[in-house]
Amino acid sequence: MFLQQVIESHRIKRVLEIGTAIGYSALFMVGLGCHVTTIERDPIMVAEARKHLGKVKEVTLIEADALIYDGPLATYDLIFIDGAKAQYQRFFEKYTPFLAPGGLVICDNLHFHHLKPEEVNRHTKQLLRKIARFKTYLQEITSFSTTFYDVGDGMSISKKVKP
Ligand SMILES: C[S@@+](CC[C@H](N)C(=O)[O-])C[C@H]1O[C@@H](n2cnc3c(N)ncnc32)[C@H](O)[C@@H]1O
Repeated sequence: MFLQQVIESHRIKRVLEIGTAIGYSALFMVGLGCHVTTIERDPIMVAEARKHLGKVKEVTLIEADALIYDGPLATYDLIFIDGAKAQYQRFFEKYTPFLAPGGLVICDNLHFHHLKPEEVNRHTKQLLRKIARFKTYLQEITSFSTTFYDVGDGMSISKKVKP
């Protein structure tokens, strides 16, 4: 619902998604009139996504690790970051140059299930620290204006306000 409201209210047409999984959100956005370029690194997910997306011509599925992909891209009205949580800042820095002026970046799962550092293992603690650092980065970066939303598992919308 949140994604739908944002896409409709901002008349989003061109989307870049990081993290396709089985193609559920890509297909959903196509249903809202978008063209979606989506990047997925896991070959099992890619195979599933191909089954679901079939010959939907409004989706370009790129099988690659988004951290190292260096193939062609276009300009997007929205970048939806939904890949590995520990890498959000790297995704943001790498892909926001492809954002149109006034374009949006949505990041998902920023609450990370409301896990508390004192209740999780070392690896998850590290992940929570990275997500916290990324939120601070979003608050501080002056070329974007970011709002955090307490919907789902925590989302943010960052609007590009300067080139
Ligand atoms: C939460 S799922 C995506 C869900 C999907 N956006 C949806 O809402 O239907 C995260 C996906 O990101 C993929 N992923 C994680 N890191 C990635 C990377 N560096 N490059 C490409 N895909 C990545 C994972 O393999 C996984 O399938």
